[in-house]
Amino acid sequence: MKQNGRAADGAKLYLDREFEVGAVDDRLFGSFLEHLGRAIYGGIYEPGHATADGDGFRHDVLGLIEGLRVPLIRYPGGNFVSSFKWEDSVGPVERRPRRLDLAWRSCEPNRFGLNEFMKWVRAAGADPMVAINLGTRGIEDAMNLVEYCNHPRDSFWSDLRRSHGVAEPHGVKLWCLGNEMDGPWQVGQKTPGEYGRIAFETAKVIKLFDPSSELVACGSSGPFMPTFPEWEDSVLSHCYDKVDYISLHQYQQNKADDLSTYLAGSIGMDRFIESVVATCDFVQAKKRSKRKMYLSFDEWNVWFHTLESDKKQEPWIVGPHLLEDVYTFEDALVVGCLLNSLLRHADRVKIACLAQLVNVIAPIMTDNGGIAWRQTIYWPFYYASRNGRGTALDVRLVCGFYENAEYGEIPWLDASAVLSLDGRSLALFLVNRSRFDSLPVDFRFVGFEGFRVAERIELAGFDAKAVNSAETPDAVMPRYVDVSENDAQISLPPLSWTMVRLVEGI
Ligand code: AHR
Repeated sequence: MKQNGRAADGAKLYLDREFEVGAVDDRLFGSFLEHLGRAIYGGIYEPGHATADGDGFRHDVLGLIEGLRVPLIRYPGGNFVSSFKWEDSVGPVERRPRRLDLAWRSCEPNRFGLNEFMKWVRAAGADPMVAINLGTRGIEDAMNLVEYCNHPRDSFWSDLRRSHGVAEPHGVKLWCLGNEMDGPWQVGQKTPGEYGRIAFETAKVIKLFDPSSELVACGSSGPFMPTFPEWEDSVLSHCYDKVDYISLHQYQQNKADDLSTYLAGSIGMDRFIESVVATCDFVQAKKRSKRKMYLSFDEWNVWFHTLESDKKQEPWIVGPHLLEDVYTFEDALVVGCLLNSLLRHADRVKIACLAQLVNVIAPIMTDNGGIAWRQTIYWPFYYASRNGRGTALDVRLVCGFYENAEYGEIPWLDASAVLSLDGRSLALFLVNRSRFDSLPVDFRFVGFEGFRVAERIELAGFDAKAVNSAETPDAVMPRYVDVSENDAQISLPPLSWTMVRLVEGI
């Protein structure tokens, strides 16, 4: 491996309080729940479970979600949404149809539907982000759904909601105009021209209903798509004036068991974001528009462990075991790096959804009728969500690197920094990518006189393949490190994720 300096040679981390990336939108710590596998049935909803309330909501799961302080949850898909009839999921439960979901070849019993989700999402302390079916359906169904959800009374669809026992409107502010409409796997896949037009017209009617609604147009399903970034250019050329965000989706994989490449995934994420920003700004220039387009990274995570085994799952059942990736310690390090990438682009990425939340490529797992536990990836998200709100600062590194065939020069250190809203607490999120060396980091700060290290939390010292399970739910978990006397330098253990929090005047 070609490298310029070893991790052990150390890194310098430069930070100036005046040099901001931008405000971190709380919605950067959003997540996602799809009618897929056991996310809903056996995940958040399990009537009869020891912790379930009268609505069937599992409170052990709600407790773990509360820990993550997720402010926004995307629902109900995902690929599922592209053939979903939302009307099936409302009204008396005994009259709701069982449907075959073609996206995941499962049975959807519609026991848990739109109104149940709205009640649940508020119980989880989050706002809804609702995806609209633009696969098999179109403008009229979107209009009806928005009216059903948000109009107070005295119209056909709002009165139907009221007749379903929901007197108050749900107040949904954020809508996704379809899902991954470029994907050949998508029910109702569209060309960029077809999608750009329907996105424009659907956005138009939603904004006629409520001009303060916020709308997300589908970007590419990932940077691997052959049509990326022409898709973004073409779609936005149609709907730029009516939408507020363009979506990004990306999942990291380590199928080849190549840790050096895997840990460099956040550099790939940086480049993906920067390419989408460049494309948005190109369309803005073409249109002579004054509006800036923002990014909604509404699916991101690690996903590869179950890609093959899922193919053997029996079809057409309710709550199948699908996408139940069991995450390792190295996956948690990658998730830590991906969070850094999002924070480094907080000026343009305003929404991000960890995909997903429970059982399906998720930080939280459950056993049906049994316990719920935290996967390894829960931890970097937990600390970033709790301490990464405020203003992202521009982190500059002087650091050695290794050469990677896919991504080029990869610094040993991956980092982000966020100053709290009150300006008195600074959180640094640091990953040492080196397997063998500790990485000494010198802090070179400007404008942080009087700040002292108050807290240091580390995820380190585990086998790269270590996991949590129902039997050993806390095998991989972070530990508090004694705060050193020296506030200007710390040493990161090999293969580690660390949060250092400095506080003024302690
Ligand atoms: O999150 C799992 C799936 O990944 C979603 O349904 C789809 O949008 C993406 O391909």
